[in-house]
Amino acid sequence: MHQDFSLKNISIEKNNHPLPKPGADVNLGFGKYFTDHIFTAHFKRNQGGWQNFQIKPYSHLSMDPAACVYHYGQALFEGLKAFRQHDGKVAIFRPEFNANRMNQGCDRLDMSPVPKELFVNAVKELVSLERDWIPTGMGTALYIRPTLVGTEGFLGVRPSDEYLFFILLSPVGSYYTSGSKSVRIWVETEEIRAAKGGLGAIKAAANYASSLHAAAKQKKNGFDQVLWLDAMTKDQIEEVGTMNVFFVLKNEIVTPALNGSILPGGIRECTIKLLKDMNLPINERPVTMTELVAAYKKGEFLEMFGTGTAAVISPVGELQYKDLTMKLNENPDSIANKLYKEFTDIQYGYKEDRYQWLTHI
Ligand SMILES: Cc1ncc(COP(=O)(O)O)c(C=O)c1O
Repeated sequence: MHQDFSLKNISIEKNNHPLPKPGADVNLGFGKYFTDHIFTAHFKRNQGGWQNFQIKPYSHLSMDPAACVYHYGQALFEGLKAFRQHDGKVAIFRPEFNANRMNQGCDRLDMSPVPKELFVNAVKELVSLERDWIPTGMGTALYIRPTLVGTEGFLGVRPSDEYLFFILLSPVGSYYTSGSKSVRIWVETEEIRAAKGGLGAIKAAANYASSLHAAAKQKKNGFDQVLWLDAMTKDQIEEVGTMNVFFVLKNEIVTPALNGSILPGGIRECTIKLLKDMNLPINERPVTMTELVAAYKKGEFLEMFGTGTAAVISPVGELQYKDLTMKLNENPDSIANKLYKEFTDIQYGYKEDRYQWLTHI
């Protein structure tokens, strides 16, 4: 059966009790405020597939306590942003990329895929309705969180035949509490986040569950995030809890090659493109801690930064590996700063969108 995922099929129930929007002087932080509406859609395998496309007032969700997500963790999410550009226009950054990545996750977790048209139209319609919530000012955005969970109630272990797809929106500032300053990263050598053949390459909620313990422990020690190593050798670098990583060495810039346990980040992909356009030698290849420590000791490890929707480009000021503290240069001419400027110039409309990354609404 052909289903219609166009905008005309999304019903809208307005919230009659809208919340006051945070003022321009408020530090939005990340994920502290939510807008007045959410989008929801339901999938029922035996009742015609995707249905009930609704935008409605933000409210709690009600689910069967036997719902698959509560017991067997069928949960996936995405993260993307809408920007208020300097001339007042609204631009969403690469929604198709996130729709595709969610569906790669559906494949691995045996969940029903969300049709790309439904994903993109729902994001556009919800953002459009909530456009007054999009903060103004460099560094701020409306964070978009599409989520998919298995809702069928049963206890035998198998994939759910029913799903809820929902989207919520949050006006955000900087991801790290340290603001746009450089971050401190702990290299985790005991726990692992993901292994090849597992879930690391998709945005499964389970990956975040497995990363919370080490990240919370190191937060108490003053670190912003943990850098994860591979499960087998604990020497190959994978990624940070919410960012892909890049290292500027004497003769090249490197980022760990996608190996099946690293999330293929959207900002990672765009960063590689920008670096190539700047004619800088960027290589995707395995990178080990052994190599980095040797480079640091020779003065050839010049810069490190993370990339991600939430974190944009985050320079790393300090990398702690066992008892070695690697202090990294915080240079105003750094590659991280150039990239940050390039990304934000495009996102906020100061520079031409030469790669067609933006969807205007
Ligand atoms: C584990 C992980 N790696 C990398 C990223 C960066 O991905 P993207 O650039 O698509 O935001 C994220 C988050 O967004 C993440 O959660």
